[in-house]
Amino acid sequence: MNEKPEGDMETRKLGRTGPAVSALGLGAMGMSDFYGPADEAEGVATIHAALDAGVNLIDTGDFYGSGHNELMIGRALRDHKREDVVISVKFGGMRTPGGGFQPVGVDVGAAAVKDRLAYTLRRLGTDYVDVYRPARLNPAIPIEETVGAIKEMIDEGYVRHVGLSEVGAETIRKAAAVHPVADLQIEYSLMSRGLEERILPVTRELGIGVTAYGVLSRGLLSGHWRADRELSVGDFRGHAPRFQGENLDANLRLVEALREIAEEQEATVAQVAIAWVLGRGDDIVPLVGARTRERLAESLAAPRVTLTARVLARIEAAVPAEAVAGTRYNTGGMASLDSEQ
Ligand SMILES: NC(=O)c1ccc[n+]([C@@H]2O[C@H](COP(=O)([O-])OP(=O)(O)OC[C@H]3O[C@@H](n4cnc5c(N)ncnc54)[C@H](OP(=O)(O)O)[C@@H]3O)[C@@H](O)[C@H]2O)c1
Repeated sequence: MNEKPEGDMETRKLGRTGPAVSALGLGAMGMSDFYGPADEAEGVATIHAALDAGVNLIDTGDFYGSGHNELMIGRALRDHKREDVVISVKFGGMRTPGGGFQPVGVDVGAAAVKDRLAYTLRRLGTDYVDVYRPARLNPAIPIEETVGAIKEMIDEGYVRHVGLSEVGAETIRKAAAVHPVADLQIEYSLMSRGLEERILPVTRELGIGVTAYGVLSRGLLSGHWRADRELSVGDFRGHAPRFQGENLDANLRLVEALREIAEEQEATVAQVAIAWVLGRGDDIVPLVGARTRERLAESLAAPRVTLTARVLARIEAAVPAEAVAGTRYNTGGMASLDSEQ
């Protein structure tokens, strides 16, 4: 591998006002939901392995596994010093007992903020959340109301920082006018570069960090995805446009082009994809969605991959964002993204 020396994981600051975090964060979503059956013992072991490797940022959502993800993280962190971990929680997704989402928009009004936070704190077994963020904008609820309620929770000591998720430039400005924002969480990968033109300039102007999710395009850009992979009911990729039919075939051809470059670098496709996001700026912290220690170990080597300007140019030519077939969510999902409007 064309790599930097092994050592402690680099730290990055989440925006001007946010906490210092490891350069890679761990996204725990797939340990409970959306990516097929998950193994809780392996999830807990993966969280422990991440902490041992110097990862201190763990991202979850109160609706991931309808609370299961927070309960699992609470169990995993039981014997850890609370102040050693930065916990980021999204809130507001409205589930059904069958595992679906209610098509009513996110529950992010002022009363919901306090109510949902109360349950989150219990499930996590903690008395504060480091970064608390509405999972989506609800167009019927002013962002000022949501952020104002989080600010009250900060004043009372239950939350440390405000975060945002998948919102556009105008909403970011409105939110930041109520309270400083630590970071915007948004999909960012070689395959999803939509934020670069209008959103990143605003986060940078306002001193807001970015926690990038989907850096492997939900496994598509990992080098491990196979066209014949069987998906269980409820797997997000079963209805994600990029994973369907001809779109999938076209996208996997891009991955194969990337694999050639990765092999020359003595790295894996996933490592190069993560290293690319890491290289987009010190204000960006990729969240890796590893569900197992094996996948985690692969991801953790990504910061050691050095990509020269020449290699970067080849990578971007091999996976031009405009050549990616299919949108990152289905029609309903895309419509719920303020960041895409
Ligand atoms: N704000 C938002 O709207 C939002 C939305 C989605 C996610 N998120 C957050 O971002 C986190 C990461 O997102 P994501 O899980 O969708 O993104 P991802 O990292 O692009 O995809 C993760 C999937 O890639 C596969 N994979 C293959 N090789 C891997 C490797 N070396 N390391 C890690 N995963 C590998 C894994 O599937 P296998 O285990 O099957 O191989 C895993 O399920 C989530 O856990 C969640 O906390 C936020």
